Amino acid sequence: MDAASIKQEYQKVFDVAPQSVFFSPGRINLIGEHTDYNGGHVFPCAITLGTFGAASPRTDSTVRLYSANLPKDGMLTFDVNDLDFHKDFGWGNYPKGMLYELAKKGAKFDHGFDLYVHGNLPDGSGLSSSASLELLVGVIAKKLYNLDVEQMDLVYAGQQVENDYIGLNSGIMDQFAIGMGKKDQAMFLDVNTMKYEYYPVDLGDNVVLIMNSNKSHDLASSKYNERRSQCEEALRRIQKGVDVKTLGDLSKEQFDQATYLINDDTLIRRARHAVFENQRTIDAKQALDDHDLKTFGHLVSASHISLQYDYEVSVPELDTLVDTAWDQKGVLGARIIGGGFGGCAIAIVSRDQVDHVQQVVGDTYLKRFGYAADFYVAEIADGTHEVTA
Ligand code: GLA
Repeated sequence: MDAASIKQEYQKVFDVAPQSVFFSPGRINLIGEHTDYNGGHVFPCAITLGTFGAASPRTDSTVRLYSANLPKDGMLTFDVNDLDFHKDFGWGNYPKGMLYELAKKGAKFDHGFDLYVHGNLPDGSGLSSSASLELLVGVIAKKLYNLDVEQMDLVYAGQQVENDYIGLNSGIMDQFAIGMGKKDQAMFLDVNTMKYEYYPVDLGDNVVLIMNSNKSHDLASSKYNERRSQCEEALRRIQKGVDVKTLGDLSKEQFDQATYLINDDTLIRRARHAVFENQRTIDAKQALDDHDLKTFGHLVSASHISLQYDYEVSVPELDTLVDTAWDQKGVLGARIIGGGFGGCAIAIVSRDQVDHVQQVVGDTYLKRFGYAADFYVAEIADGTHEVTA
């Protein structure tokens, strides 16, 4: 899939050539899961798997959307002056929601457009196909309407689409990674301050292997929002005795001493994940600074255990991928990524063992679940941008 083929596909659907072509990546996260809405650190990167979009302005106020990934949905249309959410509008709510949020910030849309999208991010895979689409439409709208907005404004608008329009109380990580990504760089982001630094992904002779369980997740209908409110409740209880603004403000020691304030098994485990995962993320960056890949790998695997037992967002499919990877030679660490409840895991694997790991993990998975997992070696990409003029 590339810009030229997307242009041709657009032409088949809309009869004319598109004005511009854009690409929006997906994302992985090295470590720092469910820390973003808890005021902690994340360490994501944008990847070369993502969503292409071809678009042209129209003279009337109609917006037409076509997705090559959902041909059954056919052409979706709406009027640019009516941007309200409609449940039965399906995937079209993401583009529409993006326009809705931009309009709230003052954008004026004096005409419609035609948009063709085609992505190679497996749906529901935890690689953020929805944030990829949100940022894609943001960058397209910026170009088509000549909007005076920064990339970070589009990042925040994307999160607003999830929070206010779709109803998923997600953090900022996905939209940030996708909007701000840089080739071969991870981003170490402190969500409390929104300060970040680009960090070269130099894993020596190792690669990041993405392991897709092909068990699709839908965060909006999952327990994602419940996890978030559990953390908020734990924080409220801690704040009765400790002066902190977020769970990310707490050290492991401070948290341990505050557990009596929470005094509830489930809430303690949820908050412990948030606090410890944040510290692990800081330690993981330090390990990379020290070229200590062994420690980095252990922290990655510890993150999985915490997500599995304390945060309880893993599923047997992901545990199988991760456990099996752990047992293989050349694997430094492995863990579930993204929101959880399905989707993908990553393994940090020595380049010369990738084929073997893929083989063994794939066979074990197929035997246990009766369908195959998919594997991709991650390539780190630039954030959402126009591909051709
Ligand atoms: C989803 C959300 C992110 C983040 C992750 C978990 O991907 O969109 O904001 O919370 O889950 O780390």
